Amino acid sequence: MTQEELELLCKEKVSKKRFRHILGVKEQAILLARRYGEDEEKCITAALLHDITKEMKFEDQLQMILKADSHTSEIILHSTPLYHALTGAIYAKEVLHIEDEDILNAVRYHTIARAGMSKLEKIIFIADATSIDRKYKGVEYFRELSFKSLDLCMLEMLRDDMRRLLKDGCLIPVDTINAYNSLSLELGPKKA
Ligand SMILES: [Fe+2]
Ligand SMILES: [Fe+2]
Repeated sequence: MTQEELELLCKEKVSKKRFRHILGVKEQAILLARRYGEDEEKCITAALLHDITKEMKFEDQLQMILKADSHTSEIILHSTPLYHALTGAIYAKEVLHIEDEDILNAVRYHTIARAGMSKLEKIIFIADATSIDRKYKGVEYFRELSFKSLDLCMLEMLRDDMRRLLKDGCLIPVDTINAYNSLSLELGPKKA
């Protein structure tokens, strides 16, 4: 499937607003790919795929998840907004026959992150949160930081995400905590 075909498929699968977001993520991922010497084609493919199943019904997504992996953690199963990252990767592999593990992981971990993410995975995670359509308070700071250091930007974003999750009384996926701890150790944790 060419990237033009993938883009068209994407357009069919999601609302206009979400499609604009996906194109924004694609553009941001291209900029980060150039900055950090990542493969642009892979970034484009992962960006186009990252939210492709986001508008599927949760029940249908849950069926896809359980069919593909019966060991999915309870924390993820309780967090419906996270389903689309898993189902996006399943859809990419099973329906579109995309075999590149790095692309599949970039889709799979774009919401929760994980320890030991590849450059492509970090680019998609960050591009998703800093695309042009994102307007939340602090987005400019993250956008700027992402061009200085992917790792520092990831760490700051994870801190922010975890703070918000705790404040709202939400569950925190183990992969998110592992991502936070491993980046903290690499970059030098703050003293307790
Ligand atoms: Fe997403
Ligand atoms: Fe997204």
